[in-house]
Amino acid sequence: MANNAEIQRRRTFAIISHPDAGKTTLTEKLLLFGGAIHVAGAVKSNKIKKTATSDWMEIEKQRGISVATSVMGFEYEGYKINILDTPGHQDFAEDTYRTLTAVDSVIIVVDVAKGVEMQTRKLMEVCRMRNTPVIIFVNKLDREGRDPFDILDELESELKISVRPLSWPINIGARFKGVYNIYENTLDLFTPDKQRVSERVEIDDVNDPRVDEAVGPVDAAKLREDLELIEGVYPDFDEQEYLAGQVAPVFFGSALNTFGVKELLDCFVKIAPSPKPVVTEERTVAPDEEAFSGFVFKIHANMDPNHRSCIAFLKVCSGKFERNAPYKHIRSGKVMKFSSPTAFMAQKKSVVDEAYPGDIVGLPDTGNFKIGDTLTSGEELHFRGIPSFSPEMFKYIENTDPMKSKQLDKGIQQLMDEGVAQLFTNTFNNRKIIGTVGQLQFEVIQYRLLHEYGAQCRWEPISLYKACWIESDDAEALAAFKKRKHQFMAVDRQGRDVFLADSNYVLQMARQDFPKINFHFTSEF
Ligand code: G4P
Repeated sequence: MANNAEIQRRRTFAIISHPDAGKTTLTEKLLLFGGAIHVAGAVKSNKIKKTATSDWMEIEKQRGISVATSVMGFEYEGYKINILDTPGHQDFAEDTYRTLTAVDSVIIVVDVAKGVEMQTRKLMEVCRMRNTPVIIFVNKLDREGRDPFDILDELESELKISVRPLSWPINIGARFKGVYNIYENTLDLFTPDKQRVSERVEIDDVNDPRVDEAVGPVDAAKLREDLELIEGVYPDFDEQEYLAGQVAPVFFGSALNTFGVKELLDCFVKIAPSPKPVVTEERTVAPDEEAFSGFVFKIHANMDPNHRSCIAFLKVCSGKFERNAPYKHIRSGKVMKFSSPTAFMAQKKSVVDEAYPGDIVGLPDTGNFKIGDTLTSGEELHFRGIPSFSPEMFKYIENTDPMKSKQLDKGIQQLMDEGVAQLFTNTFNNRKIIGTVGQLQFEVIQYRLLHEYGAQCRWEPISLYKACWIESDDAEALAAFKKRKHQFMAVDRQGRDVFLADSNYVLQMARQDFPKINFHFTSEF
């Protein structure tokens, strides 16, 4: 059992939320507890403000910041915690989906006034696909919001996961008095303070008269009533169900006031999983195997056009990653050595000599890596599970400088390798279609093609509803479908068949008329 102690103490996770629910604030408070930063306000928000969508230079600046905050590692009570940051702006949702393939669990932040919002719902779908264990933090209890029971119902119905409160708020907004920690039977009183940790009242259990003294008899009675209801309605918390992604424990608090955050963190380190076995096309790889393996889940380009270098983010899956050791890059068959791999502690990047399963290593790269690439000590392994999702916006990309078509092609290929967007080639007219999840990526692509590759492009509208990957066991049915829909057929970069549906109606009809064809909305099926 190589490296077992190191593996067991690692917790690699992401915090996800709809923009503005409090992800950045919560991240910062977790870093405060880990001693990784010392004052609030030290974590720069990685979100691209809505107002900045047309201001490309601002985005560039903010992307610069996000390299440093891409992974934040810190030590807490003997645990090594790695938080993987995800971009707040929804136009970069695809980046977030991929980051979720590299985490072992997730904390979802929900605003108590707004409940479950669109982005949260989508991200939860990705977690559900992978059975990722989820803890939910209901934030902003210091503000007026919804009834906590309503919130629980909404979490269950909207996120399609069973929930189990492990803490419970005493009032909300101006009357918010504190939180009863069901998991540990403790009571914490709320004092609005951005830097200080909450005040703990010593009690035996909720029936202790000291609860009445602390919050008053009326609120104490209401708390007991609520807890009774919770015990009646929700089954006891079962750690195995949480680990299987079937039930999500829920905590209440206020990230801004550092309230309820320590309780969340203490429970998180105890119950959240250490790195799990990972499935490859060949076999399942256990983290405690002797030989090293890992995969690239994110590539971050240097936005400086004079240095077209990138950082490839590698998640270590098994064995030990060592600086200067020879590793095999499976896709190319090349043997590579890394003299300056970086690790991320707090917000600092520094060269590391070794890293263990669960850790993320930054590999300086000049174009060797693609998203999903595997590195191993030698064994032929291909990690799975970096899906592409059907994009939501599509445009034809056209070359506007015929002298630079090579540059354009190269630029497009490299940007696609980085996972900025997806490329489909229409097999009917051979035109290239770029698919993204947001308008912003089109601006990013055009800007980067020009500044990094000297290529100019123009976008032309195409009215598409969805691109879906198709396949069938019945070769004849597949051929018949492709013939009938020949104008709407494309291939992705791997040459797989993609059907371009121009409306939901067309897609529904196609599904009805061709029952032998399977339509997929992610590239992994
Ligand atoms: P995000 O990363 O999920 O997008 O959210 P972020 O942490 O940036 O928080 C969004 C806004 O909500 C911030 O205010 C933040 O201060 C506020 N906030 C976070 N947690 C709480 C909480 O527990 N209670 C209250 N009342 N507010 C909270 P902002 O005005 O948009 O930004 P800032 O100027 O304060 O940074």
